[in-house]
Amino acid sequence: MILDDFSKLDLKIGSLDLANPVLPASGCFGPELGQFTKVSSLGAIVPKTIFLHPRKGNPSPRTAEAPYGMLNSVGIPSKGLEDFLENKIQDYLSMGPPLIVSIGGLNVSDYWDLAEHLNEISHVKAIEINVSCPNIEEGGLEIGSNPKNLAKLVDGVVNRFSKPVITKLTPNVTSITDIAVAAESSGSTAVSLINTLAAIGINPNGKILTTGIGKAGLSGPAIKPIALKMVWEVNKHISIPIIGMGGIENTKDALEFILAGASAISIGTANFTRPNTMLEIIDGLESYAVENNLNNIQDIRGEIG
Ligand SMILES: Cc1cc2nc3c(=O)[nH]c(=O)nc-3n(C[C@H](O)[C@H](O)[C@H](O)COP(=O)(O)O)c2cc1C
Repeated sequence: MILDDFSKLDLKIGSLDLANPVLPASGCFGPELGQFTKVSSLGAIVPKTIFLHPRKGNPSPRTAEAPYGMLNSVGIPSKGLEDFLENKIQDYLSMGPPLIVSIGGLNVSDYWDLAEHLNEISHVKAIEINVSCPNIEEGGLEIGSNPKNLAKLVDGVVNRFSKPVITKLTPNVTSITDIAVAAESSGSTAVSLINTLAAIGINPNGKILTTGIGKAGLSGPAIKPIALKMVWEVNKHISIPIIGMGGIENTKDALEFILAGASAISIGTANFTRPNTMLEIIDGLESYAVENNLNNIQDIRGEIG
């Protein structure tokens, strides 16, 4: 069933109004997806992480196969903030849904400068702080894996950006809950989790790594049970909204994350093979809400305590 009215899916993340809880995961969505799926129906638009200044990213191969998922070692190439504002933002804005800009940095002041600049752009409705990429040379992950460093970073972003701030958490830590609590207590409006799991692949014939450098991240269905557990765990310790992601491929997966405590969900790897996944999930969640007499899909959020 393809429904036109998604009245049972709307939600608020701080002051951000979303028509539904289904978003693209950063780095797995670009304007080209508009050729294949109805991007105007998405809950929000989340482009690939941008840096303040241009950077190259990692040497190829940047992606490799992995069982039930993929490895990526893209390393966040970015043409920088200026290029984003001059050449890219318009494409994303013309899609319709609210724009959440994902920001990265090599040090705290990169993030703070980006937050200050983006605060001036009225079309940017929220920031997602990416402190969780396992395949860059330095920067974010050192901050994102230490609660004290993270709190300082988030506090500075929140002081410079007056709209909602989402902190994207890494699973590559001993306790993701400690990091989530630090994000909440330093003023994050929401947290998103998880970014990719640090991983490598080896080609035994060539005796080489399957990605250009040995810093890669695993995503896709292989990580879903881990992501689900982290969302479930984090939900017990914070009260701000959670955007859950990691291997979500269909409505059943999305419902599992919502039952575990996610207010919204993001789709990454699945977009590469089935660009309509996000639309099918929006449709599937609305059908589920209708069939189960829910006022809103949020009624079942966190029911698995
Ligand atoms: C090719 C690729 C590029 C990615 N780039 C980014 C990025 O730029 N910023 C970010 O925060 N996460 C990035 N991610 C992580 C995803 O947003 C997401 O957190 C992760 O892949 C788990 O979701 P999935 O299993 O649905 O892909 C990337 C993932 C992939 C596979």
